[in-house]
This record gives sequence, structure tokens and C-alpha cells, in this order.
Amino acid sequence: MTKSGFLALLMTFAIADGGPRALAAEGDPIKGKALYETHCLACHGPQGRGDGYRRFNPPVADLTSPQVLKKPNSQLLRSIHEGRANTAMGAWKWVLSEEETRDVLEYVLTFPR
Ligand code: HEC
Repeated sequence: MTKSGFLALLMTFAIADGGPRALAAEGDPIKGKALYETHCLACHGPQGRGDGYRRFNPPVADLTSPQVLKKPNSQLLRSIHEGRANTAMGAWKWVLSEEETRDVLEYVLTFPR
């Protein structure tokens, strides 16, 4: 493959994956902010850095970290909806509608990285 062909391929992946992803959960970040502050802030902290409640084991995820952000939105939506087994991250499907789950993720994706 030529060098420019390779670069074009790389860029395709960058756009498909880590590219312009903010505001990509198809939710409303304004509504999401209110939901986040009510339901998520106490654990995840005001800017998602996992600096709310610090005594869980495994610890609260830093929502601005590559470990979390490398996951596709579909997977993060599922984590919020279903919770994470054997962690303090509970299932929010009992509290948030699917639309509200998208709103809250949309807001999470606005945090400075
Ligand atoms: C009781 C504390 C607590 C609350 C409240 C909480 N979380 Fe979490 N959250 C956690 C913990 C602990 C983890 C790390 C789970 C793990 O290690 O897999 C986590 C992980 C996550 C992840 C990463 C999931 C993944 O697949 O890696 C996301 C996204 C997330 N939380 C979003 C939210 C949102 C949105 C809310 C509010 C609706 C919320 N959390 C409320 C404790 C909490």
C-alpha cells in the first residue's frame, strides 16, 4: 500500500472510532446534565473523573479515561442500562428511560478529557 493510501485508511478508522464523538449518543446533554447531577455525580464526581465516592472496590470509573472512552457508545449505554456485575455501578434501567440514558451519556461525553 502507498503511504498516502495508508494514511487515508488510518483516518477512516480515526473518524469511525475516536473521531468526532462528542455529542454522538443522540441524546440531549442539557437534560443529561440534570440527570447526571441527580444520579451519578455522587460517585463519578462533578466532571466524571471518578473522584466522587472513593471507597468502592473496584473503584468508580473515570469517565474521561481512555479505558472507558475507547468503548463504543452502544457498550457504554449498555453499561449504564444494565450496570456492571460485581461493582457499585448499578443498573439504571429501573430509573432512566432509554432516552434519558442517551441524554446522560451525551452529557458525560462533554467532560474535558
Ligand atoms: C454507587 C456509585 C455509582 C453511581 C451512583 C454511578 N456509578 Fe457509574 N460506575 C461506578 C463504578 C464503581 C464503576 C466501575 C465499574 C467497573 O469497574 O466495571 C462505574 C462505571 C461506569 C461507566 C463505565 C462503564 C464501562 O463499561 O466501562 C459508566 C459509563 C458509568 N459508570 C456511568 C454512570 C452514569 C451515567 C451514572 C448515573 C446514571 C452512574 N454511572 C452512576 C459507580 C457508580
